[in-house]
Amino acid sequence: MKGVLKKIEEEILYCRKCNLWRERKNPVVGEGSWEAKIMFVGEAPGANEDEKGTPFCGAAGKILDELLNTIGIKREEIYITNILKCRPPQNRNPKEEEIIACSPYLDRQIEIIKPEIICCLGNFSTFYIMKKFGLKGKIQGISRIHGKIFEESFLFGSIKIVPLYHPAVATYNVNMKPLLKKDFEVLKSILE
Ligand code: URA
Ligand code: SF4
Repeated sequence: MKGVLKKIEEEILYCRKCNLWRERKNPVVGEGSWEAKIMFVGEAPGANEDEKGTPFCGAAGKILDELLNTIGIKREEIYITNILKCRPPQNRNPKEEEIIACSPYLDRQIEIIKPEIICCLGNFSTFYIMKKFGLKGKIQGISRIHGKIFEESFLFGSIKIVPLYHPAVATYNVNMKPLLKKDFEVLKSILE
């Protein structure tokens, strides 16, 4: 198990499958427990993450930590990664071709960690994960489906998908914070 994730990490460190490798300082593989029941999937590294090589270590990360704290979850218990492993210049939106190039790493991380719950942070993550798990017909913008629980069953188990607002929204609009907290309460309720 450990070896397989290590192998993915090495591939990402030397990856040049899309143009984002040119300007990145450090790719951000992901962080947390390999036995996590909950996986958080964000969009792409920002400036701080690019600098340090770890996910959600800037302003959005602070809010994420606060939200996790309110429901008593520690970062060490979850696994956090992003759709794109390298920072898009000026934090622009991911391009379709970048998602196509990079998402196989995320797919492999999901396959190894086998989370029971995937929390999608923001629109890009929600779209990718819901499509991946056969929920394309139920995709709507994050303002419509945040905090809802989607369950998909397959032969050997099931997975819950929870779209959430990207925590960065609370960095530009503090009024959003109560809404984000409410969604985390939903997450807490499915853990009980
Ligand atoms: N925003 C993201 O989507 N991911 C990070 O790791 C940091 C900010
Ligand atoms: Fe490779 Fe992903 Fe980085 Fe593009 S964003 S270079 S596909 S690791």
